[in-house]
Amino acid sequence: MPGRALLDMKSRLDGLLKEAVVCVEGAAVDKDALLDIKVRYLGRKGGVSSFLKELASLSAEERKAAGEAINQVKDSLEGLIEGRLAALEERARTLALEKERLDVTLPGRRFPLGRRHPVMQVMAEIEAIFRGLGFDVAEGPEIEHDYYNFEALNIPKDHPARDMQDTFYVTEDVLLRTHTSPVQIREMKRVKPPVRIIAPGTVYRKDSDVTHTPMFHQVEVFMVDEGVTFAHLKGVLTQFLQGLFGTDTPLRFRPSFFPFTEPSAEVDIRCVICKGAGCRVCKASGWLEILGAGMIHPEVFKSVGYDYERWSGFAFGLGVERIAMLKYGIDDLRLLFENDLRFLRQF
Ligand code: PHE
Repeated sequence: MPGRALLDMKSRLDGLLKEAVVCVEGAAVDKDALLDIKVRYLGRKGGVSSFLKELASLSAEERKAAGEAINQVKDSLEGLIEGRLAALEERARTLALEKERLDVTLPGRRFPLGRRHPVMQVMAEIEAIFRGLGFDVAEGPEIEHDYYNFEALNIPKDHPARDMQDTFYVTEDVLLRTHTSPVQIREMKRVKPPVRIIAPGTVYRKDSDVTHTPMFHQVEVFMVDEGVTFAHLKGVLTQFLQGLFGTDTPLRFRPSFFPFTEPSAEVDIRCVICKGAGCRVCKASGWLEILGAGMIHPEVFKSVGYDYERWSGFAFGLGVERIAMLKYGIDDLRLLFENDLRFLRQF
């Protein structure tokens, strides 16, 4: 027959459990509140532990029953709170997953894609044509020595091309290259013949008006081998220009002068705008001047240490902006440098 003390204790334990359950229910969605409740009822100084002190005053038999009752309350309360905490955590995880959910079926966002500038497109096209003819691509520095830009190209000290008017000088001996021809010298000094090279790049001249910009692009083309003649020059130029402008484009050679070629020629194509009838672009002549060319001068071969009795070669150089304007019918050079997207997107 249990004593009154035990019955009284069990009923108080019961009361404590009920009270705690009400607290837990009230705090069901608040993790911190649940942890507080846990401390309050289950902590070392908590409500349930306080019953342990009373065990001393009970008989051995009652003590066992009381201990079991205390443990039961402790276990069920623990189970309840842990269950709630676990549920809370689960809910938080579900919410986070919901929020971060990715719809992998949504169409992707397109990034705006740039495109090649028309000048670069023409350069690429020129390069492709010459690669097809077995030429390699070489480059040289834009800041160049007087020697490569002028001296080795047989441009004497008093030649007008050296005039301060035309050339940007860095120092007395260093300048911004005025053409891509110095790459001829660099390459021929680097390798022995036969050579077949194209050298695209930027060049600089003190020139600025409607048809000139201080920086523009050139492509240099040259070839050296045994037995290279003007006929090869003509053949390669025909292949090249007709590849660029169409096979129905006649060429015309006019005698000209460059210090680094002999003989020299200026090469025209029939006007691509009016097909020779005469228009504003060709100044009613029906022809368009397109590049300078010639057979490499023996003095140039001497500069690079090639035996000019054995080797011969041709070279030509052209302005890329001019080609781009003719090819795409652009009537103002400045359009190529303004980077107006409405203009550039047309190519
Ligand atoms: N370098 C010359 C120029 O800029 C073009 C050219 C190159 C002419 C090669 C002949 C041979 O005008």
